[in-house]
Amino acid sequence: MKTLIQNGTLVTASETFTSDILIEDEKIARIGLNLEAHPDHRVDASGKLILPGGIDPHVHLDLKMFDTVSSDDHYTGHKAAAFGGTTTAMDFVALEDKGFDYSVDVWMKMAEKAAIDYSFHMNLTRFDEKIAKEIPSLMKMGVQTLKVFTAYNGRLRLDDGSIFKALQIARDNGMLVMAHCENGDVIETLTAQALAEGRASPIWHALTRPAWGAVESTLRMAAMAEQADAPVYIVHMNAGGEVDMLQYAREHGIKVMGETCPQYLFFTLEHLARPDGAKWICSPPMRTEADNARLWEGLTQNILQTIGTDHCPFFYNGTRPIVHEGNEIAIPGKELGRDDFTKIPNGLPGIQDRMPILWTHGVNAGYITPNQFVAYTSTNPAKIFGLYPKKGALLPGSDADVVIWDPQKKIKYGVAQSHQRTDYNLYEGWDLQGYPEKVFLRGRMIVDGDEWKGRRGDGKFLKRGEGEIL
Ligand code: URP
Ligand code: ZN
Ligand code: ZN
Repeated sequence: MKTLIQNGTLVTASETFTSDILIEDEKIARIGLNLEAHPDHRVDASGKLILPGGIDPHVHLDLKMFDTVSSDDHYTGHKAAAFGGTTTAMDFVALEDKGFDYSVDVWMKMAEKAAIDYSFHMNLTRFDEKIAKEIPSLMKMGVQTLKVFTAYNGRLRLDDGSIFKALQIARDNGMLVMAHCENGDVIETLTAQALAEGRASPIWHALTRPAWGAVESTLRMAAMAEQADAPVYIVHMNAGGEVDMLQYAREHGIKVMGETCPQYLFFTLEHLARPDGAKWICSPPMRTEADNARLWEGLTQNILQTIGTDHCPFFYNGTRPIVHEGNEIAIPGKELGRDDFTKIPNGLPGIQDRMPILWTHGVNAGYITPNQFVAYTSTNPAKIFGLYPKKGALLPGSDADVVIWDPQKKIKYGVAQSHQRTDYNLYEGWDLQGYPEKVFLRGRMIVDGDEWKGRRGDGKFLKRGEGEIL
């Protein structure tokens, strides 16, 4: 099967040029002007941009949390991702008592209904000699990334000594440690004090997780990485001070990389103070306008490396069913913590929103160039996580994950346009210009305007190799 996309403007992480692109079966076969081919299908892309499919390095589908589960599964979340231009998503495997093999298997089973390509990171939430010995076996499973937490005491957190040993093991095996940076001890203390004083509304979620905890923890992780001579990737960077630390550490030659997420670029503590503030509860929390501005600066100046979503949606009111893709559904959500912020499931929707929101409010607004947009949302994640140039590239031989992007398309965005399975959207009513028109996954069109052409089970598990340090 050959598809010829003609006269589009290709946008890569480093170049912008007019070209045809020939897809043969699952791969990009040729790129060039006026390609001679005898395609089965032709697509006229005049006036449109051609981007490599988005790669979301940070999602949580089907994640159990606080007596409920994140409301998108590996099919609904993938479908939503595709409508937003994303063709690869990376999820985090919860480490079960039965070990790595068993835990990866649980996630493999849940992902059998995948609609886009996917890959896994392992949450390293326990550490002992046995686990230490078994970590390299993850590489054989195609999982070369370990997420560690400096917060969530007694649940997910590892002590610094264990994190340091994990960094050494990662170094010796070509793996990468990803770090959730907050100060668990400070959070536990402030949370207990707030609850004892009856301060239980959503804003207290943010006030008990101060930015300085994220800032010092980011520097601590970078310092440990340097001492272990290992790379580290800081997830969901949210505070301006973290950008400062990232810049400082990188200027000192430390192999540290940073990811931010759209929510930290647009929202602040004030959103948590609203009557519906629970919608914005995630960890780490929203900060201030100065933090938003410094994160944008981090993107403009290429201090940061990627933009993920941390997509971990919950219903705002999980007692009231919604009609999603023709079916009535209700899943317990943020209402679980109506009287106590510590019981509100942590996480936000965003897997579909990421690329359209960043195009309008990042590229059109002048913070990042179209090439930086491609770098942050596709090429850099592919390189860091060992998928490049199979993914994240418009090159002969790459998977034909291709987005035809209409830079003129105007849309008033919100829950009605989103396929994310929840009852609210953080960007409700936002005016957007620039939106995916057609999306191809390995040469097959899976989104055509408003029409879904993807299929449950068509997404493939991607075994990853060693990544690059950017
Ligand atoms: O609130 C969030 N971000 N939930 C997902 C888990 C995490 O720490 O990334
Ligand atoms: Zn995290
Ligand atoms: Zn996360």
